[in-house]
Amino acid sequence: MKLLFIASEVDGLVKTGGLADVAYALPKALQEMGHDVRIVMPAYRQIQDLWQEWPAQSLDCKLSFFNTVTVHCRRGSHESLPVIAVEHPASFDRPGIYDDGNFAYPDNALRFGILSKAALDWCQQEGWVPDIVHGNDWQSALTGFYLAEHFGQDPFFEKTRSVLSIHNGAYQMHCDAGWLAQLGIDQRFYRPADFEDSGHLNLLKGSLGFADGVTTVSPGYASELITPMGGHGLDHKYRALPEPLVGILNGCDYDQWNPETDPWIAAKYATIEEDGKAKCKQSLQKELNLEPNPDTPLLGSICRLVDQKGIHLMIPVILKLMQSHDCQFVMLGSGDENLANQLTYIQRQYPHRFHFFNGYDIGLSHRIEAGLDAFLMPSVFEPCGLNQIYSLRYGTLPLVREVGGLQDTVVRLSQSQRNLKTATGFMFQELTEEALLAETERLLDVYKNKPSQWRSMQHNAMQQRFSWKKSATAYERFYRRLLKSAPNQHP
Ligand code: ADP
Ligand code: GLC
Repeated sequence: MKLLFIASEVDGLVKTGGLADVAYALPKALQEMGHDVRIVMPAYRQIQDLWQEWPAQSLDCKLSFFNTVTVHCRRGSHESLPVIAVEHPASFDRPGIYDDGNFAYPDNALRFGILSKAALDWCQQEGWVPDIVHGNDWQSALTGFYLAEHFGQDPFFEKTRSVLSIHNGAYQMHCDAGWLAQLGIDQRFYRPADFEDSGHLNLLKGSLGFADGVTTVSPGYASELITPMGGHGLDHKYRALPEPLVGILNGCDYDQWNPETDPWIAAKYATIEEDGKAKCKQSLQKELNLEPNPDTPLLGSICRLVDQKGIHLMIPVILKLMQSHDCQFVMLGSGDENLANQLTYIQRQYPHRFHFFNGYDIGLSHRIEAGLDAFLMPSVFEPCGLNQIYSLRYGTLPLVREVGGLQDTVVRLSQSQRNLKTATGFMFQELTEEALLAETERLLDVYKNKPSQWRSMQHNAMQQRFSWKKSATAYERFYRRLLKSAPNQHP
């Protein structure tokens, strides 16, 4: 199949979160299965040294009858993957990807509208007919809309079907209706059934009605999105899809996340019996200036500092742990300044037991995964979550909230503790700091008082495999099903 994959970030090039991991690993897995995959992404300033070397081709991106934007499509590759970088300096030659560090760029709808449309215009200019155009999140959701609306009658795209994957349904891109005309969204679609949402334009909401198929990144999150509690206000849209919403669990790129080969970590290890993991812990304690005690449980987390990740629960729990428990905690993250200040405050109080690294650091993220005893992920919601999957591979036991993809990837240690042959982590349900603290205390108890139980769980965890091949096969099946069916007949 010819597959056009459109994404706003791609691991190895530009990354703010898990979308990038998927936008690299899924196309790679599909390519390995023999498909002709191309990735379309913005030619950001951050990677200009790369794409400036690539041949450029001028393209008129026709967003609407009166709004044509001239872009340059740079053709190159990232590892084995063909990449088309859409160069439009007014949109992408900026210090940030989505924001200036404080505020989202006010023209984000247009910036990514250009990306979404240029992807299709490039195909036409090249004479390359994709079987599937696959958009990801709101940033490339409009590709499906443009395919249906602008090319609905065009024989060129007659056989092409569109897929939209929801990596995070909370980000929808609400903006002023003034953008409609520039984006080429006809006024007739500015109605509650499509793009209108409480007096605003909502790009994700409208786009959902035009995609031929919609997927999300875990079965758990798929079942949440269709409920009023978990649908981020769009549950009715997810329930009304012509093809039911499908949850395909993300995989893990074990070429990058593997303690046997990881170049970032202090010592490699294949099993828990080897001393590699202990060395990684010792080295992390040293690197972060924590007391060098091998027996003190080392907990931690890596995440964007946003409400989704449950940091507001973690902060009071970390404080309690520091006040009355023998453990250490490491936090790597960037984002909300207020949350960062609170974490910095805790570090000042407990400099040798708590470390907060305010920033983005890939090497450190690997060393944390390898060096921790347990990884906390008390998310409010979590479409899939990748860090808990990485943790499993490193024998670092995850403690997660029972939501979305977290419940699909971690096997909780039951209250009776009878499932030691299968348990890979700890899980709690109620979104309260008391519930998180109680489960953390349970974890600390197993760590300190039942070392053989802990080791069994580490064994189970390290044996888990979330292969991208399996996920890519599920996408392949989904694509084939869409190709056999008629395009979405938007009412
Ligand atoms: P989300 O996409 O919601 O941020 P995921 O768990 O799916 O959550 O993916 C997060 C990805 O981003 C992981 O690969 C994680 O290691 C990485 N990451 C997040 N914050 C940082 C950071 N501060 N430094 C390095 N990597 C980070
Ligand atoms: C999003 C979600 C995360 C998911 C990632 C990749 O950023 O928040 O749960 O793992 O996308 O699909």
